[in-house]
Amino acid sequence: MRIDILSCVPSLLDSFFAHSILKRAQQAGFAEVVVHDIRDYSTNKHRTIDDYAFGGGAGMVLQIEPIAGCIRKLQQERSYDEIIYLTPDGELMQQGMVNRLSLKGNLMMICGHYKGVDQRVRDLFVTMEISIGDYVLSGGELAAAVLSDAIIRLLPGVLNDETSALTDSFQDDLLAPPVYTRPADFEGHKVPEILMSGHEAKIESWRHEQSVKRTRERRPDLLQ
Ligand code: ADE
Repeated sequence: MRIDILSCVPSLLDSFFAHSILKRAQQAGFAEVVVHDIRDYSTNKHRTIDDYAFGGGAGMVLQIEPIAGCIRKLQQERSYDEIIYLTPDGELMQQGMVNRLSLKGNLMMICGHYKGVDQRVRDLFVTMEISIGDYVLSGGELAAAVLSDAIIRLLPGVLNDETSALTDSFQDDLLAPPVYTRPADFEGHKVPEILMSGHEAKIESWRHEQSVKRTRERRPDLLQ
């Protein structure tokens, strides 16, 4: 999978993708993430990429020309399965959506800033608009990082334990059960006995019960 991210603050993303699972995924060739600086596509010598909103109002708007220039250059190199715009008024990101995106080959993500991008970017180029939650971030970079992370960890081979992505919270509309590791007794707080019984079937059924209990308590909406 290849993910191209268009941003006017690329340094925000560079450090994120240089770490942990995402770094390993890229080094092992499972994913390639390329961050593009929209400013490199500015059409003027001052390298500006935003301007005042027509009709007035506070806040600057990202102009269409630099973004269109970057998108078109990338489209000459490969075709994209989705061109995603990260925005609080997009479709709410959910595990099912992430699962589907993880099956794609080439994704492009556009990060807004200030008051967002000129509407014509969305009308002419964007195929999917995604929000990572009902709150407003100062830019789309963190949202693109969240979405990329959730996608990349699902790619075959990226996680060490192949089954662990399948047992995540949300994969089956249930929250994950509690987990424990050594010591078995911390200052009198003991690990549930069943987990040390070695009885696989009973452990599995205990975990399922705990998942259902946790989901009922914390996210009853998932059980509807
Ligand atoms: N940009 C600003 N806020 C956002 C959000 N909640 N989701 C996606 N992109 C955003």
